[in-house]
Amino acid sequence: MKSEEVVALNDKFLMNTFGQRQIALKRGQGTRVWDQEGRSYLDFLTGISVNALGHCHPKIVEAIRRQAGELIHCTNLYYVEPTMKLAKVLVEHSFADRAFFSNSGAEANEAALKLARKYAKENVDPKRTDFLTFKNSFHGRTFATVAATGQEKYQHGFEPMMPGFSYAEYNDLASVQALANETTAAIMVEPVQGESGFFPAAPEFLAGLRRLCDEKKIVLVFDEVQCGLGRTGRNFAYEHYGVEPDIMTLAKSLGGGLPMGATLAREHIAAAFTPGTHGGTMGGNPVIAAAALAFCEELFEHGLAETARRNGELWRAKLEALRKRHACIQEVRGLGLMLAIRLDRPSADLVKTLERQGLLASAVAGDSIRFHPPLNVLESELDEAAEILDQVLP
Ligand SMILES: Cc1ncc(COP(=O)(O)O)c(C=O)c1O
Repeated sequence: MKSEEVVALNDKFLMNTFGQRQIALKRGQGTRVWDQEGRSYLDFLTGISVNALGHCHPKIVEAIRRQAGELIHCTNLYYVEPTMKLAKVLVEHSFADRAFFSNSGAEANEAALKLARKYAKENVDPKRTDFLTFKNSFHGRTFATVAATGQEKYQHGFEPMMPGFSYAEYNDLASVQALANETTAAIMVEPVQGESGFFPAAPEFLAGLRRLCDEKKIVLVFDEVQCGLGRTGRNFAYEHYGVEPDIMTLAKSLGGGLPMGATLAREHIAAAFTPGTHGGTMGGNPVIAAAALAFCEELFEHGLAETARRNGELWRAKLEALRKRHACIQEVRGLGLMLAIRLDRPSADLVKTLERQGLLASAVAGDSIRFHPPLNVLESELDEAAEILDQVLP
């Protein structure tokens, strides 16, 4: 099919939630993707931070093939080896004691919110039903997670929002202290805000949240859907801060490109979920769990986070060099390989020009461009991307 035929199918048959896009992709390998006509692009978007090992990594492909030939689905009424092994691996490498699997970041957060409320009502005080989240956060598109998301643009048209959410200022502990009270069940926060444009939390902010939650018996939830699993140069972003949450959510790169969410929790909190209280037909599907295990092996056994840290340093240096050459770049920000540039002008048109020149990235916050290359991106690919930016930026 030609690209324009794929676009025509989209325009006629798909609900129009993503707006006008330009490219119909057919194939991917490593950091590179090709469109229907065979034009190649460097993928510094990776399906919005999903393909952390690049496209069609041989170990992921092999794990999927093997498991797909054995057992594709049987639901959670039965035990399946890859899913149990995945829970073990995630628990052994994190603060958590137990895992719950779902199909997306929003579902992982939905489970976290339900778990936190049930735990707090049953173990702290029945009045503990409410949630505190942050302005400019992003937690998903379901009714609960869009209510948790502190950005009106995602809520517009879907009001009334689910009650029980209030929004503090990110990196401002005083604003949290002003809102936290005897009805607060949990505080949910991204250690690095992702969708709003890669803003890391200040160390004293996360440490302060932990202290406040301990003092007031509030559950602390870290949404590491985007910043977790090696992206910041550590296995989990919270490791940079020396602060552990009570619940953490993961998704994006976890399934090696297949849809998977995970909600991890400490034992006493996880105990609030009992048989029949929460679930889902597809969560923890064995094919996706097998892919996730292959991804986790690269992350936990083969130093993927360290590779990301090194690549993050290289990429930051290249972006800083570009900043010196292009006055339109105001700032390079982010953590690890989660880096964005802020411009002195709107970024959307520039991102389209980058696409035409063969570099996929995403426009955020009106004036910024964020880059999420695969964690194992090659230095030559970082150079290539920097060259394209050098040509395109005014
Ligand atoms: C921090 C964070 N939480 C939750 C989500 C929602 O994840 P999903 O799109 O898989 O539902 C996202 C998606 O971008 C995210 O960045």
